[in-house]
Amino acid sequence: MAEGTRCDYLTFFVNGKKVIERIVDPETTLLSYLRGKLRLTGTKYGCGGGGCGACTVMVSRYQTQTKRITHFPANACLLPVCQLQGAAVTTVEGIGSTKTRLHPVQERIAKAHGSQCGFCTPGMVMSMYALLRNQPQPTLDDITEALAGNLCRCTGYRPIVDGCKTFCENSNCCQLNGKECCLMNGAKPVENGENDFPELFNKADLLPLDPTQELIFPPELIMMAETQVPTTQTFCGERMTWVSPVSLDEVLDLKSAHPQAPILMGNTNVGPDIKFKGVVHPVIISPTRVPELFEVTRTPQGVSIGAGSSLAAVRAELESLVKELPEEHAELYRALLLQLGSLAGPQIRSVATLGGNVVSAYPNSDLNPVLAAGNCRVLAVSKGGRREIPINRDFFVGFGKTALKPDEIVLSVFIPVSKKGEFVRAFRQAPRKENALATVNAAMRVVFSEGSSMVHEISIFHGGVGPSTVYASKTCKQITGKPWSEETLNAAYPVLLEEMCLPPSAPGGKVDFRRAVSLSFLFKFFLQMQQKLHIMVQFMWCCSTGFARKYEEWNRTTTKPTAAQLPGVSGCASGAGQQGSGWPTPDAQVTCVGQMICAVAGDTKSYAKRGAAAVKITYEELPERVFTVEEAIQKQSFFQPQREIWRGDVSEGFRKAEHIHEGEIRLGGQEHFYMETQSMLVVPVGEEKELNVYLSTQHPAYAQESIAETLDIPSNRVSCHVKRIGGAFGGKVTKTCILASITAVAALKTERAVRLVLERGEDMLITGARHPVLGRYKVGYMNDGQIIAADIMYYTNAGNTADESLLVIEKILLHLDNAYSIPNLRGRSTACKTNLPSNTAFRGFGVPQSMLVTENMMNDVALRLGRAAEEIRDINMYKEVSLTHYKQMFDPLNLRRCWQECMEKSSYQSRRKDIDQFNQLNRWKKRGISVIPIKYGVGFAEGFLNQAAALVHIYKDGSVLVSHGGAEMGQGIHTKMQQVASRELQIPSNLIHISETSTNTVPNTCPSAASFGTDANGMAVKDACEILYNRLEPIRKKNPKGSWQAWISEAFLLKISLSATGYYRGPDCDMDWEKQEGAPYAYFTYGACCSEVEVDCLTGDYRTIRTDIVVDIGRSINPSVDIGQIEGAFVQGLGLYTMEELKFSPSGVLYTRGPGQYKIPAICDMPLKFNVYLLAGTQNPSAIYSSKGIGEPTLFLGSSVFFAIKDAVVAARRDAGMTGLFEFHSPATPERTCMACATHFARMVPESTASSVQPWAIESP
Ligand SMILES: Cc1cc2nc3c(=O)[nH]c(=O)nc-3n(C[C@H](O)[C@H](O)[C@H](O)COP(=O)(O)OP(=O)(O)OC[C@H]3O[C@@H](n4cnc5c(N)ncnc54)[C@H](O)[C@@H]3O)c2cc1C
Ligand code: FES
Ligand code: FES
Repeated sequence: MAEGTRCDYLTFFVNGKKVIERIVDPETTLLSYLRGKLRLTGTKYGCGGGGCGACTVMVSRYQTQTKRITHFPANACLLPVCQLQGAAVTTVEGIGSTKTRLHPVQERIAKAHGSQCGFCTPGMVMSMYALLRNQPQPTLDDITEALAGNLCRCTGYRPIVDGCKTFCENSNCCQLNGKECCLMNGAKPVENGENDFPELFNKADLLPLDPTQELIFPPELIMMAETQVPTTQTFCGERMTWVSPVSLDEVLDLKSAHPQAPILMGNTNVGPDIKFKGVVHPVIISPTRVPELFEVTRTPQGVSIGAGSSLAAVRAELESLVKELPEEHAELYRALLLQLGSLAGPQIRSVATLGGNVVSAYPNSDLNPVLAAGNCRVLAVSKGGRREIPINRDFFVGFGKTALKPDEIVLSVFIPVSKKGEFVRAFRQAPRKENALATVNAAMRVVFSEGSSMVHEISIFHGGVGPSTVYASKTCKQITGKPWSEETLNAAYPVLLEEMCLPPSAPGGKVDFRRAVSLSFLFKFFLQMQQKLHIMVQFMWCCSTGFARKYEEWNRTTTKPTAAQLPGVSGCASGAGQQGSGWPTPDAQVTCVGQMICAVAGDTKSYAKRGAAAVKITYEELPERVFTVEEAIQKQSFFQPQREIWRGDVSEGFRKAEHIHEGEIRLGGQEHFYMETQSMLVVPVGEEKELNVYLSTQHPAYAQESIAETLDIPSNRVSCHVKRIGGAFGGKVTKTCILASITAVAALKTERAVRLVLERGEDMLITGARHPVLGRYKVGYMNDGQIIAADIMYYTNAGNTADESLLVIEKILLHLDNAYSIPNLRGRSTACKTNLPSNTAFRGFGVPQSMLVTENMMNDVALRLGRAAEEIRDINMYKEVSLTHYKQMFDPLNLRRCWQECMEKSSYQSRRKDIDQFNQLNRWKKRGISVIPIKYGVGFAEGFLNQAAALVHIYKDGSVLVSHGGAEMGQGIHTKMQQVASRELQIPSNLIHISETSTNTVPNTCPSAASFGTDANGMAVKDACEILYNRLEPIRKKNPKGSWQAWISEAFLLKISLSATGYYRGPDCDMDWEKQEGAPYAYFTYGACCSEVEVDCLTGDYRTIRTDIVVDIGRSINPSVDIGQIEGAFVQGLGLYTMEELKFSPSGVLYTRGPGQYKIPAICDMPLKFNVYLLAGTQNPSAIYSSKGIGEPTLFLGSSVFFAIKDAVVAARRDAGMTGLFEFHSPATPERTCMACATHFARMVPESTASSVQPWAIESP
């Protein structure tokens, strides 16, 4: 094979510098090239699959035909280096840096506090930068669209948007994001009123954006493109040969010679297959330089678009056609545009191609149903000739398969203009509104007979309901020739339901929902067409029964060699002989899928990965596996001890109660999804088994201890360093220490520095999550709403080891009262031992689970009494100085103030009325509102953890180095410590530096957790600074007008030590579980939150219209940082309670192992209006400068969205004639919401009952 023997070289530019690469491995992505070869580590690795945007770069190309330069954002993790011939790549380092000068985008995001842990920031910056290169004065919509493919786990997005918004032509707009900005439709900017918040940054100080200062496109690349005749390029790697032909004939020759070789264009399908499924393609054909694949030809009949056109280019072409064509001819184009607007993010759309989408034949491709319904055709070519193939039911022959012959490629796709009387609509329901593959989608086209409502022709195609795009042939037949009426459609629904048949084991699960939504789509189409036809109807419904179903599985298997045979593998270590590492010995029992067995070290990352993949393990099935809480209860599989707490006399309370109700609610787990996965580098220093460990952990001292114990060396040989952490949220305490111990073993064994960075999927599989909880309660209450007794049982799914679960179940019980004074209260909690990966700490440490159960109980009482839930909450709230159920005294004054202020600021009462009115007028859209309070205990109940130390050095030039025990993970602790030092030493912050957190500067530190980091470390820094300041007192007195630098010089000459340690002995919190009393918390942080949502009852989709939060955080040390924490925690809570779902297979394998399957909130999930108020005039004598801990408390406030959705569902059910209580578990996903709304369509779907077929996933772990 000629092309396999030759290796060409690549020429491209990175940040204005020419790169000539002579040895290119076709498996190398731009991301690994940038980070590994060019050492440009600003571009981050978050997922490797195009789902998070952390790796965003800008790619620029010169187009010879148009003589124009195009700039687009791209995911470097999917972009093969081999495709970069002639391109200019700009990374975050190329636009500005702290070393030189920040680019205005970087500066504005930073100044607006849009960067917390900072891991997502380079990607955000580059997405915004690419937008500005194309549109220097974007609209707010442009910005939210540009950032749709970028995830942030810290900020809640508002400050990022705020920073970017300053580039809008008129940036003085309201805080709304998305489509409802106050400046839309020519409205005037908000001047005063409720959006008139204090500015968190000064816009006047911002650097101007000067497009003339941007990197220019390298003239050499223009010359190359204009003068050099393109030639075929071939690159040979160890396992792959890459051929990039330049003519169509060559492509066809290659395809004929290698029919199995993929035609690699955007690499957004092939790339993830190679990476995640281990697919190896010996030959790859990448015709991205073949002009015929990009040709666009317009004719009166339609447009033929080259299959190589990116989806962004297709969108631009269709937008231009829609503008030019009469409305009736652009029906199909508009439907395609609708899908293209929410298909993936801009980075994917910039590179993924039309041909790639069609040929990939995904079951839930957004375009294929529309292309099929719209009678589009592909032009297929091969060496044997060309043929037109209609995109119809015969085109999609199975999962990922089309009717193309192996040697054929798609040259173009023909998309016809619509005829008179023809209407096309597209629909889509996804787990997240943007950047998420659809759960179900559909396209429907109808042609009415001229001048009538008679259906002449109809075609309906669905995605997500089978292994490929599905044609609803029987439904179409049923409707054809009939009038467009409710009668016709009513007769069609059962037929469609039968066609959309899915067994419970169908990949992706949610089968009832998918079937129901298919019906909803047809109904929506019906309504939209009715509007077109101007027909008024009354609706009548009929019912249906169940249907038989058949479904094809789509699984692939691969076989692999053993690790030892592979090159580049440096070593393989298992648990044998390692103390305390937590590894099973080779013959030990493995108790969950995801348990670590051994580690493989390699010369390079890919060698190590290949080695690990080749390790062969023979498993025997565990005879008795336990996955769910119910199974654990049945088998009494619990970790000990279980906990119990009570006050009053619960039995007596129930006896006196006028009503008794029993209920339950489940809450699923939550993946931490810190943007930076678990990462560490262990460097053996060479002498006496010394190790330097650089790692991303919240608890460096524990990592040090674990490593020392594992290696059986003293702690003083191990020094752990933490610069900053790309998010942690509780997931980088215990789990990181296990991984650090393993890495240290490898480092010591190989006597080499060893780096361990988990892939996103591995991280999600191995490291556990938030504990799922089943809460069962019995509540006794009076007619007036007073709750007089409650008995709550919490079952947490702890997984296969205890980890911190026993502490979690304690904290659950300590918070079960939330804000309520229930005189007779009993709580019990237990950690169930199951065969799932061990769950661990997560922001809130059980509190978000605990309080959801309590609040649901409040809701149930309200529903039972037919009163607003807020009334019941108000009635039962603590109102005067009280004792908690564990007898800690507190004053709820600020809790009440937060509650009342929240009710007022949100205008709850008037909006409640508006919502009721809205719900009366709308059948398929319902609004809901909810207000939730919180009382959150700050500090560690284990009193010894409430301590901290700091070390402060003053150097002779007056600069100050502060070290303390807190790890910076985005919560702004270093900023706050700098502020403390600045205030105590009375010097400007710029003289103070914090370099890192390390065990050799401040030993025996406690974890940065429990919202206590600033409280503890702030006091320690304060103490050290006070010592130093006092030591300087004689000098200051002698020379009161002297400068700081002069005092320091003098102090040195006078032999005054300029270094001091500070120490804080925090509160002696404790809890005596025997006596059931204690004072486990230093104080309480209070808050309240009101959220309003609008739910689409037909699909379960929802949008948060407005959120108002009032929080008492004492006297905030840094309001910008604290507001960032409040918003970020709220949005993480919104994710927990409404979106994020961990799915396990029936044999306990985690399915959801990346952003593709696990959805965290994105920019589209920000409340449209988001107000945060800090309670004024409050004090907190228990913490530094009267502030309060805020890292965790407001996460629970995200549940206000859950309860607002529930409120909307109640309204929907009322319309469906259903009143009273109903099952509604968390998260309130579209699936749960839609099914709970009990629309006619949801009720038409017969509930899938237990059958011989195993469901796809465990229903509720
Ligand atoms: C993060 C992410 C999110 C996504 N979200 C969505 C979404 O919301 N909706 C949706 O519909 N899709 C979505 N996709 C899928 C994406 O649209 C497709 O992967 C993409 O369109 C494929 O195009 P490509 O050029 O990247 O194909 P490649 O990966 O380069 O190739 C894919 C396949 O198509 C074949 N092929 C490509 N071009 C031709 C041709 N001209 N002739 C013959 N065969 C060809 C190749 O041989 C290969 O088998 C998403 C993908 C990612 C990674
Ligand atoms: S790392 Fe590339 S998108 Fe996540
Ligand atoms: S700041 Fe966005 S992920 Fe941390």
